[in-house]
Amino acid sequence: MKIAIVGAAGRMGRMLVKMAKESKDLEVAAEIDVAEGFAREWPMDTEAVIDFSFHSAVPPSIAKAAEQGIPYVIGTTGLSPEEQTAVDAAARRIPVVQSGNYSLGVNLLLNLVKIAAKTLGPEYDVEVVEMHHKHKKDAPSGTALMLAKSAADGRGVAFDDVAVYGRKGMVGERPQGEIAIHALRGGSVVGDHTVMFAGDVERVEITHKAQSREAFAAGALRAAQWAAGRKPGIYTMRDVLGL
Ligand SMILES: NC(=O)c1ccc[n+]([C@@H]2O[C@H](COP(=O)([O-])OP(=O)(O)OC[C@H]3O[C@@H](n4cnc5c(N)ncnc54)[C@H](O)[C@@H]3O)[C@@H](O)[C@H]2O)c1
Repeated sequence: MKIAIVGAAGRMGRMLVKMAKESKDLEVAAEIDVAEGFAREWPMDTEAVIDFSFHSAVPPSIAKAAEQGIPYVIGTTGLSPEEQTAVDAAARRIPVVQSGNYSLGVNLLLNLVKIAAKTLGPEYDVEVVEMHHKHKKDAPSGTALMLAKSAADGRGVAFDDVAVYGRKGMVGERPQGEIAIHALRGGSVVGDHTVMFAGDVERVEITHKAQSREAFAAGALRAAQWAAGRKPGIYTMRDVLGL
């Protein structure tokens, strides 16, 4: 299967190219990046595009894939609402897999967090803490947002009504039902996430630590193979994994 990697010069892109070249089922049709020495376009016989680049790069790239009928896998995070609308429009014409995290472990965690939130209820305060390397550009991480949304789902509340991003100053006592997200940055951390359920007499913590970008790249390559031949629509990594 011929795949194109968008953002091929980046941390994730380099890992994707390396793993795709090692796979007997995949062929790298194009390594696309704005960096010098990289391609700007994929060939017409490309069978899937995997995008781990920059939020503003996604709309023009996915629009081109939609015109050509090529499935698209989005790993890039931090999309604005307008950019997300462009993705949704493309998904009416091609299969699109979009996930803030392609690792098996985090996708399992999403289900565990939903169950925990439902079981423990709003008496347990939910705080999501994430840490990433100092080069990460968006905050909080797409994964932290997905985890916080899973907690909101488990409680049956609308995430936007209860979300809080960090705290500073005289914020007052913590109201019940809030779901707060905190982003730490430093060093070379690949991606750590903890969801805390803090009760009055006990605390439950669910943690995932990615040790290598291989965890994300393997999932994205699997998603590209899964997407080929699907009906147009927007899918998540949970669909790919059947979770
Ligand atoms: N979903 C996941 O599992 C997952 C995992 C890790 C990272 N990410 C996300 O993937 C993205 C990339 O992460 P990274 O750590 O590899 O970043 P990075 O900065 O190392 O790489 C991004 C690459 O994209 C390139 N790029 C920028 N604009 C472009 C354009 N218009 N066309 C083509 N290429 C362009 C840059 O030149 C760079 O080489 C980020 O949004 C990050 O949050 C997602």
